Amino acid sequence: MADKDGDKIEKNYYADVPFKTNGNFHVKGAANLDWGMKKHLTNIFNPKSGNTVMFAFDHGYFMGSVSGLERLDILIPQLIDHVDVLMATRGALRTCVKPNFRKGIALRVSAGSSMVNEDLSREIVSVDIEDAIRMNADCMAVQVFIGARGQLLSINNLSKVINAGSGYSIPTLGVIAVGKNMERTSQYFKLATRIAAELGANIVKTYYCDDFEDIAAACPVPIVVAGGKKLPEKDALEMAYKSIQGGARGLDMGRNIFQSHNPVIMADAIGKIVHNKYTDKEAWEYYSDKIKSNK
Ligand code: R5P
Repeated sequence: MADKDGDKIEKNYYADVPFKTNGNFHVKGAANLDWGMKKHLTNIFNPKSGNTVMFAFDHGYFMGSVSGLERLDILIPQLIDHVDVLMATRGALRTCVKPNFRKGIALRVSAGSSMVNEDLSREIVSVDIEDAIRMNADCMAVQVFIGARGQLLSINNLSKVINAGSGYSIPTLGVIAVGKNMERTSQYFKLATRIAAELGANIVKTYYCDDFEDIAAACPVPIVVAGGKKLPEKDALEMAYKSIQGGARGLDMGRNIFQSHNPVIMADAIGKIVHNKYTDKEAWEYYSDKIKSNK
């Protein structure tokens, strides 16, 4: 086994060198996958921009009805035309979202303790592959807790879902978790994102941090960036821009959309950065102008 104390020579991520084995497929690391996997990934990542705006509203699986998500039946119809993918639990999708939409589905398939329990890191696989197929999931989302007490359990969950998904050509999204006692350093995210990809995740979700370019370069599958706690809209747009500039292939954003003063305009502004090469300043101008003209 390699020395766990780590490398003794300086690393080089070649962050400015494009990924070499993509062939002519638009999703990183997916060129050698089969037709079904590629179709699902194309339902997630726009073939023109190569990027995605995922709208995450799966928070209820451990947080209950967080502010902004009290009534999914009212919120989701407003937002659905403004994002590429809905990331949600099967309960939320089946009860609150009519099936007549043409967007991707990132189905949350892991579950664990609620936020009233101090150890969130011990999860189980809560949705089996048959139900993911019935839901037409384009990917299955599993929480990954590296360095936490539940690390081995979450790696077991991730591996089980990847194995099941591989049998039916459904990609897996590894969601890098940051519990309250877990570090949010670039070293942690570099370790965790690479582990998830090496274990076979087809997409990895993580947070924006220092050295993000290196993290994205070292991860052989697309990274989508979580929004995290609500920020002022201008700051959230800056984070989105820096993420895309740093090599992320999309945002998987929840609170910074659904807790925004205007979730629809915010989702559109994020989309301008993700798909239309807007800078954060241009996206902020877009957001501000739209808010003014809505008054
Ligand atoms: C948390 O584990 C869930 O997967 C959320 O979907 C995720 O945190 C993204 O939402 P937010 O942008 O609110 O952090």
